[in-house]
Amino acid sequence: MYDFRIDAADKPSFYRELIAAADALTAGEPDPIANMANVAALLFEALPDLNWAGFYRNFGGELVLGPFQGRPACIRIPFGRGVCGAAAATLQPQRVDDVLAFPGHIACDSASRSELVVPIAGGDGALAGVLDLDSPSPARFDKEDEAGCVKLIQRLSGRLGGMAKGPAQG
Ligand code: SME
Repeated sequence: MYDFRIDAADKPSFYRELIAAADALTAGEPDPIANMANVAALLFEALPDLNWAGFYRNFGGELVLGPFQGRPACIRIPFGRGVCGAAAATLQPQRVDDVLAFPGHIACDSASRSELVVPIAGGDGALAGVLDLDSPSPARFDKEDEAGCVKLIQRLSGRLGGMAKGPAQG
């Protein structure tokens, strides 16, 4: 059994502990689906005020639903559509305070009000997939959440089907 308790004084320390927990959970496991499943579960449990946490994977220019926690979601998202599709098309994180005002937003769960999507680099400018976090609260994610999740994905990308980066891979 895994029981991670993250009790940090501020967001940077929270994300340091979260990344350490995710690193420990995925260390030595080569299967990206198993790792995505555990990372989605960890994020959903550790981050307050989420209604969805999970992954979409790139299959030939289309995002396909991967492991997640939350309500059943749309299965396929073309690059360029919605928040996930924007992250996939631009390879840039997308932090959206009000998803209802985002052009082309795909409402998988009508409770979602804000969203953070982080691309997983696949190497040579390619995309392996995206991490998608949704919240029922407007503007749930700030710059520190974005920076923390970008670091998490950079650290784990080699274990999530992406390009290995830095020393913590494998
Ligand atoms: N709202 C997302 C679609 C994915 S779900 O929220 C799980 C979007 O517009 O990309």
